[in-house]
Amino acid sequence: MDRLRIEGGRSLAGAVRVSGAKNAALPALAACLLTGSEVRLDNVPDVWDVGTLVKLLDGLGARAERLGTHRWAVSTPEIASPEAPYDLVRKMRASVLVLGPLVARAGRARVSLPGGCAIGARPIDRHLEGLRQLGAEIRLEHGYVEARAERLTGALVDFPDVTVTGTENLMMAATLARGTTVLTNAAREPEVVDLARLLRGMGARIDGAGTSVITIEGVEALGPCEHRVIADRIEAGTYLIAAAITGGKVTLEDCEPGHLRAVLEALAKVGLRVETGPSWIRIGNGRPLRAIDLATEPYPGFPTDLQAQFMVLMTQAGGSSTIDETIFESRFMHVPELRRMGASIDLAGHAARVEGPTPLTGAEVTASDLRASACLVLAALAARGETVVHRVYHLDRGYEAIEKKLAGLGARVERLSDR
Ligand code: EPU
Repeated sequence: MDRLRIEGGRSLAGAVRVSGAKNAALPALAACLLTGSEVRLDNVPDVWDVGTLVKLLDGLGARAERLGTHRWAVSTPEIASPEAPYDLVRKMRASVLVLGPLVARAGRARVSLPGGCAIGARPIDRHLEGLRQLGAEIRLEHGYVEARAERLTGALVDFPDVTVTGTENLMMAATLARGTTVLTNAAREPEVVDLARLLRGMGARIDGAGTSVITIEGVEALGPCEHRVIADRIEAGTYLIAAAITGGKVTLEDCEPGHLRAVLEALAKVGLRVETGPSWIRIGNGRPLRAIDLATEPYPGFPTDLQAQFMVLMTQAGGSSTIDETIFESRFMHVPELRRMGASIDLAGHAARVEGPTPLTGAEVTASDLRASACLVLAALAARGETVVHRVYHLDRGYEAIEKKLAGLGARVERLSDR
C-alpha cells in the first residue's frame, strides 16, 4: 500500500490545472450503456474510480477503449450480462449508477446492494423506489437488487430528500421509458447538469436539469455523442484550501468558478483574497485567517465533499468555528487523526466545533475515505515537520496525480511504495 510523505511548512505558489470531475465522469460512463452507438468522452480524470467503472462496464458487455490519458470511446452493442458483482460495488458505491441504464436498456439488472461506508449508512432506497414508480419490479435477494421491466413507463417521482446519484439513475432510466417522467426535489448539482447535457447529446429529451424539477420525455433509442466532462469543483476547492492553509498564492486553471460560488464566498469570509476569470481562480493574501461557521448543504450550498478540507483550514483560523454536517451522519472520521496532529476539535452529534489557531505537527496518520485523506494531506502541508499519510489508495480513487500537482506548486511531497 502506498503512503505519502509530506514535509510541511512551505507556502504553495504557481498554477495548477484542474482535472475533469470524477463525479461527472462516473455517471457519464454509466450512461454509455443506454446506447448501442459509440460515445466519446473527453476530460475524464485519470483516477482509480474511473478504472473500476470501466472494469464494471467491460463485464456488462461494453467495449471501453482508451484513446488518450483523458479520452475514452465506449460502445455497447448489447448488454452481455446485466450484473454488477459484489466485488466491484464493494470497492465503489457509484457502481450503482449502472442500475438505471441496465433496466432501461436490457429490461433487467442484478446489482449488488452497497453496504454502509466510512461516511454513513448510505442506503439506495430512493433509487429503488423511483424505479418502482417507473414500473420496475424490484426484489432484494442474496445481497443483490434484482430489477425487471419490459419497458419502463414515465411517472412522477418525488424525492423526499435530495440524492445526487439517485437523481442521475432515474434521469438515465427515464430517457428510454414510454412517456414523460417528472423528477421533483431533484439534485441540482453541476454533475447532474453535465449528465443531462451528455444525454441530450445522445438524443434524450430532458428539461430543467440544474433546477429541482427535471422533465424527461422518453425516446425509442439513443445514439452516438461526443462529450467533454466538466472540471472537478471538489478538486479545485481542495487546491484552493491548500493554498490558503499554507499562506500561498495559487492560480487554478481550466476550472468553472460558477460551480464554486458557496466555497469562494466562505473563503472570502475567512479573509482570503479570491479573484476569478472565465475559467480560472486565483487565491492569495490570506493572513490572518478568521474562523467562520458553516453548514454543508446540497448544491448550491457548501459541498459535504469539502467539509473535511475546510475543517483543517479552520484549525489555522483565529476563533471558534462550528461546522455542521447535514448530508452524511458520520462524516467525521478525519477528526481523531487531526487531533493527533494538534487540532482542537469537539464533536457533538452532526456538528464539529474547531478552536483555532492551533499549531499542527507532523505525525503518522491513516486515511479513512477519499475526502478525509485529502484533509490529512492539507493538514500535513500546514504542519511543522514530517507527516506520513497511510492508505493513500483512498486519494487515488478521486484525485489525479495529487503528489505531482502539489510538488508543481512547491510542496515537498513524496510517494512511498511497498511494491
Ligand atoms: N440517501 C438515502 N437514500 C437514498 C440515497 C441517499 O437515504 O436512496 C441519503 C444518503 O445516505 C445521504 C444523503 O441522502 O445521507 C445524500 O446522499 P446522495 O445520494 O446525494 O449521495 P450519493 O449520490 O451517494 C454523491 C457523490 C458523493 C457526495 C454526495 C453528496 C457521486 C458518485 N458521489 O453521492 O461524493 O458526497 O453525492 O454530495 O456523485 C466523494 O466524491 O467523495 C463522494 C462521497
